[in-house]
Amino acid sequence: MKVVVLYGGISGEREVSLSTGKGVINALQKKGHDVIGIDFHPDKIKELTELDADIVFIGLHGKFGEDGRIQGLLDMLNMPYVGSGVLASALAMDKSKAKQIFEQNGIPVAKGKTYYRDKLKDIASLKEEITESFPLPFVIKPNQEGSTLGLHIVNELEKLEEAIYQAFEHDQAILLEEYVKGKELTVAVWGQKGQESAFPVIEIVPKNEYYDYESKYTEGGSDHIIPANIDETVTSLIQQYAVKAHQLLGCETYSRVDFILNELGEPIILEVNTLPGMTPTSLFPDAAKAVGISYEEMIEKFIKISLQ
Ligand code: DAL
Ligand code: MG
Repeated sequence: MKVVVLYGGISGEREVSLSTGKGVINALQKKGHDVIGIDFHPDKIKELTELDADIVFIGLHGKFGEDGRIQGLLDMLNMPYVGSGVLASALAMDKSKAKQIFEQNGIPVAKGKTYYRDKLKDIASLKEEITESFPLPFVIKPNQEGSTLGLHIVNELEKLEEAIYQAFEHDQAILLEEYVKGKELTVAVWGQKGQESAFPVIEIVPKNEYYDYESKYTEGGSDHIIPANIDETVTSLIQQYAVKAHQLLGCETYSRVDFILNELGEPIILEVNTLPGMTPTSLFPDAAKAVGISYEEMIEKFIKISLQ
């Protein structure tokens, strides 16, 4: 099969995507496919339109890759691709919108508020509003970003302004959330639309204070415990939430859904990743491995599900 792999790109997660792309290209070649990899920038659009591919594997992460924009371009070009379409991708990328959908459908979310740059008066009044309405500690993150880029856990008010500025460097909107202390968990989901299933829950034990960029992408930066050390009832609830979240956003083929299990034992959903990392330290491939599915088989299965 002729498979085009888009990777790299222009988002803040470019480095992650270079690694995902390498893994995906290697796996597809091993499976005997005719693979064309494109480090995808706007100037490569013409090249893409001229390719006669059977399917496109989007190995991009973050803005312009994971947020529905590339998916829209591929739809216009009538090129089939692996994974979620325009709307699901855009919704999942917009953490604030996705949280509203989860909350309305009974999946617990962290309390929080979204602030839009164009509606802000000034930084002083934003700081005042935040300090008056949220107790420390809290999390500040860009509304649309991945890999914890621009995310800060604010433990003291002196760090608030810097955290706000850094989050706004990544996006026009920032999300302020209560800091939920507990276990970091994630669930890989895959399957045909309406028949998705969840992999075993993974518990992430980062070496750093939390699962930040360094612990995500440094070899040995975190331990992945599979299955997570949590009881069966909670495990099955989290798996149900993961599949439900995937379906509520209208995701397709595969995704990875992140949670925190708070100290009361309640799972709080953080987000759905429609193009989760496929790097050597990534979680989805580890979940597959835990149930005896190799990296190559996993990528092949994504393609099979997409073409069904
Ligand atoms: N955003 C990164 C790629 C992940 O979720 O794995
Ligand atoms: Mg993410």
